[in-house]
Amino acid sequence: MIDPPVKILGVETSCDETAAAVVANGTEILSNVVSSQVALHRPYGGVVPELASRSHLALIDSVIAQALSNAQTSLGEINAVAATFGPGLAASLLIGLNAAKGIALAAGKPFIAINHVEAHLYSPLLANAALDGLPMVSLIVSGGHTILAYATAVGTHEILGQTVDDAAGEAFDKVAKLVGLGYPGGPEIQQRAEKGDPAAIDFPRSMLNDGTYNFSFSGLKTSVLYLLKKNPKHSVDDVCASFQEAVVDVLVGKTIRAAEDRRVKTVSASGGVSVNHRFRDKLGQECTKRGLRLLLVPAAMCTDNAAMIAGLAYYQLSRVGSSDYSLEIAPSIGLGARSAS
Ligand code: KG4
Ligand code: ZN
Repeated sequence: MIDPPVKILGVETSCDETAAAVVANGTEILSNVVSSQVALHRPYGGVVPELASRSHLALIDSVIAQALSNAQTSLGEINAVAATFGPGLAASLLIGLNAAKGIALAAGKPFIAINHVEAHLYSPLLANAALDGLPMVSLIVSGGHTILAYATAVGTHEILGQTVDDAAGEAFDKVAKLVGLGYPGGPEIQQRAEKGDPAAIDFPRSMLNDGTYNFSFSGLKTSVLYLLKKNPKHSVDDVCASFQEAVVDVLVGKTIRAAEDRRVKTVSASGGVSVNHRFRDKLGQECTKRGLRLLLVPAAMCTDNAAMIAGLAYYQLSRVGSSDYSLEIAPSIGLGARSAS
């Protein structure tokens, strides 16, 4: 075991953000550098894997150097190096994982491979330095994932439910395309929704009362498509507001029910969609009504970042140890999978 303070360099390249961060003792964020590729992929309306990996390769060295410099530290003072090993785009994961393994090996530091979804799951605890928030019910809601989990300790969790088709963020992105808005769709829909009527269209709340903790968003997307086919001139503001309200109702409804069923005192949410203002407000109201503590993540840490990777790595290192330098990427792993050797 390393004596505190333990400074970990984290690296994240699972999708379209090239990110590096230095975090001390799991919760003290000394630096958090994110180079977003959104502008690069915007003309294509989604992430182009080949462009993503090339861009990671071009940027990874400077992003890591910037993270060390912003933290006013050097590789010599870093105690371990962590990186995302999955899930994500294979060619993107390879860049960050190999950079981190190479640095760790060359500097003789432990290497820790982190599950990206698990990092999202614990990010509300780490960002708020609120380890006393356990046990908690946590919603991970991003462009790739919609998962409701129950966690009793950092690294000990159970999946209660997940999407059976599209992730919530994917639904935002696809509906934005349908109504002629840009990529990524979530922020654009949110902006238009502010001017619209959330009760204008009664979109379906799929699976809301089906007794499971699973989600489905593809039917909602199809409802938007049919509505626009029937009436192409429908107010975009109203469609956005009503669509957003339907997604938020289901996300909040299921999360609150899980919290009540599991009798937890803490609820948390993370991932890109949890930036959504209507989602944050509604979840906040429902938690307040029931005396539940709500842990959200600052917007900069909701979307992909390396602070959550370095933060979780601290706990993983102390609980299960470091990972083998020969560890490979795992693009399709689920939330349960961990890497430690
Ligand atoms: O966590 P993230 O950066 O990447 C993944 O791991 O997927 O999440 C990106 C997703 C995109 O689908 C984007 O449209 C959505 O998060 N998003 C939002 C908002 N900001 C980003 N969705 C709804 N409202 C927002 N304000
Ligand atoms: Zn993510």
